[in-house]
Order: sequence, then C-alpha cells, then structure tokens
Amino acid sequence: MERLDKRLADTGRWSRKEARALVRAGRVAAGGAVCRSPEEKVAADAAVTVDGAPIGPRGPVYLMMNKPAGVVSSTGEPGERTVLDLLGEAYQNIGLFPAGRLDKDTEGLLLLTNDGPLAHRLLSPRRHVDKVYYVETEGALDESDVEAVRRGVVLGDGYACLPGELELLSAESAHITLHEGKYHQVKRMLAARGKPVRYLKRVRFGPLALDESLPKGGWRPLTEQEREAIFSD
Ligand code: URA
Repeated sequence: MERLDKRLADTGRWSRKEARALVRAGRVAAGGAVCRSPEEKVAADAAVTVDGAPIGPRGPVYLMMNKPAGVVSSTGEPGERTVLDLLGEAYQNIGLFPAGRLDKDTEGLLLLTNDGPLAHRLLSPRRHVDKVYYVETEGALDESDVEAVRRGVVLGDGYACLPGELELLSAESAHITLHEGKYHQVKRMLAARGKPVRYLKRVRFGPLALDESLPKGGWRPLTEQEREAIFSD
C-alpha cells in the first residue's frame, strides 16, 4: 500500500504538491472510486486514473525488489516464472527489465528499471559498481579465505577475479563484496576455495541497500534519495 499522492508523483508527471491538488479537486480515482484525500493508501498495483485516464507509470521507473528464490531474473523465459511476473498490472508492458542478474536460487536486492542508459552505466564493467552478498557455505570459512578473496580468487577455469572483501560473520556465513559481476561469481569463487555456497542473498548494489522490510518477492519504487544516489554514483 502507498499514499495516493506518492503514487501519482512516482510517475514523474506531477510533483507531490501538484498530485495533492489533483486529488483534492476530485480528479483522481483509485479502483474506480474517486478519492479526495491525498494521504489515502492504495495498493501499489491499484488502477489509478486522473480525469478518467489511467496514469500508468510514465517516464523511467526504478523499483527495488527483494527477489525470492525460484524466479528467474529475466523478462521472459519459457516455462519459468520471472521477476516481472511478481509486479502488479501497472508495471507490465512498460519495458522494465532487471539491471543485472541473480541466479534463480539467489535472493535479495534487484533493481528493475526501464531506463536503459542508467542500467548500462551501473552494469558497465569499467565502473566496478560494488555488490555485497550475504553467503552461507558448506564448510567453515577462515582467514585463508579472507586473504584469498583479498588477493583475487582464481576460478576453476583460470580466470583471476578482481580483489574483493570477505567479512566473516560466523563459521559458515560471511558478507562478500565484489567489484565485478561475472557469471555465478560468488558460487564459483567459493567453490574454488572448496566451500560451496548453500545460500546466497544480495544485500547491496552500488549505493542501494536492500530494504529488509520488503518481504521475499516484495518490491517498491526507489525513494527520491535512492534515485539520486544511483544517478550520482
Ligand atoms: N554470484 C553468484 O554466484 N550468483 C548470483 O546470483 C550472484 C552472484
């Protein structure tokens, strides 16, 4: 649920102040009923109209999702449930795609947007946008793993990873920070250390931290501060 004035402002078509004025003027309906209170809470995917016309999300859209395991981070894959299937009706067919991928069994922070240039910038290998994962392993992690990650783990295929950081949280859990994003990278790094990953969750992507109040499969538009942060990163 989100405030009606915020829902309008999040389209980028009206400021919060203009949105409030529209609502008070009786020009806005949610789910078919006219609302006159800007602070009224509406479901994030409720059909909202202004003067009878669906607002849809216009302009670039930026959503943070807490991706659950079991869905793929692509826009369509035969026989698979995708992250887009978790979004409400208002967010379908507006060109959204995940900026970066998480494996089907990986959970956590995923940015969905229809802003191609921004996604391209965040994902550019040259920019080394940090990604932080919470990881649980089979087999105890120790200082030798911390040191190996710090130097750059060499994967089974001979690829030498960029130096990263491993912060031990318990014998079999850690935060790992990477400055690049290779296919299955965390799993391959820890497999190379003989400590296979049994659970993986992304908790940070560049300046964005996972909103832990989002349930698995939950999502919300980025806040103004978060939007500013991804643009200035
Ligand atoms: N590294 C992985 O191995 N899997 C992911 O989903 C993300 C990073």
